[in-house]
Amino acid sequence: METTQTAPRKTLYSAIQPSGSITLGNYIGALRNFVLLAEDYDCLFCMADLHALTVRQEPAALRRNTQSLAALYIACGIDPEKSIVYCQSHVPEHAELAWILNCFTYMGELSRMTQFKDKSAKHADNINAGLFAYPSLMAADILLYQTNLVPVGADQKQHLELARDIANRLNGLYPGLFTVPEPYISKTSARIMSLSDPTRKMSKSDAEDSYIAVLDTPDVIRRKFRRAVTDSETEIRYDPENKPGVSNLLSIIAALDGITPEEEAVKMQGLQYGALKEAASESVIAVLAPIQERYQQLMGDKEYIQNTLKAGAERAHYLALKTLRKVYKKLGLYQL
Ligand code: TRP
Repeated sequence: METTQTAPRKTLYSAIQPSGSITLGNYIGALRNFVLLAEDYDCLFCMADLHALTVRQEPAALRRNTQSLAALYIACGIDPEKSIVYCQSHVPEHAELAWILNCFTYMGELSRMTQFKDKSAKHADNINAGLFAYPSLMAADILLYQTNLVPVGADQKQHLELARDIANRLNGLYPGLFTVPEPYISKTSARIMSLSDPTRKMSKSDAEDSYIAVLDTPDVIRRKFRRAVTDSETEIRYDPENKPGVSNLLSIIAALDGITPEEEAVKMQGLQYGALKEAASESVIAVLAPIQERYQQLMGDKEYIQNTLKAGAERAHYLALKTLRKVYKKLGLYQL
């Protein structure tokens, strides 16, 4: 007899903090790939609002940014019927598991996290315990869903490594407790750099002119690209070491065209830098236009956003509770 057995699908987890703008770097490096990942994996896409609280937030802005990020996830093509799209604070198990994991995470490990060191330097007046324990909350996010894969950029690699260490540590004490997550390295992971300092990653925490936001208007996009730093030569060549600005523009256009930056350089050869910048602007505007249109529609339908997040939270809660119960039981917390 023939059996059509399909292996259970792997779980993939990703989260973005709802603090400020989502950049073109986030879109190219993460968001746009999520749609494809959802075909192969059971995906959870989270708005990490509890993580956002580790730096001061204006309440109204945090609330707006959370709704906005939900709309943006969906506008970028994520199907909330298929994937679980939800908000971290709607699922109480995140904070509960984070506490447990804190009891199995060492001060020394947390002190070594480069993001903690960077953020402590940047927010010297607010080095709070949440900022310090940020990675154990992130480990809780991941481990709650018995996650197999986490797409990570370079800046989150160390945090994922720690999540793996924590999972292995607990599994050593309580066998079979957690799935140990692996990094998911995207095949098409273009690293998009700052427009004003192309040796650094594009980041929403830098000056506004240094990044393109996914919701920037065409005029703003053109202006930002016009001001992008290049170099004093005239040749268009992909050479990130010596020509980081020009190479970044090539990487952006190439990522959106689906070719390599080297191939893009051949296509653009002979153009002036001004024309290269224009080509970058027009590619970006064309890709973002339909996303922005869908985003505006969604933001006009708050009820849809609310209902979607409610359904997402319920699905996430069901899975999270299963893991948390198992953890409480194995650790010896008295169950009624
Ligand atoms: N710390 C991540 C960032 O700032 C966001 C995040 C929170 C996350 N929890 C996560 C990413 C779990 C992956 C998995 O980018």
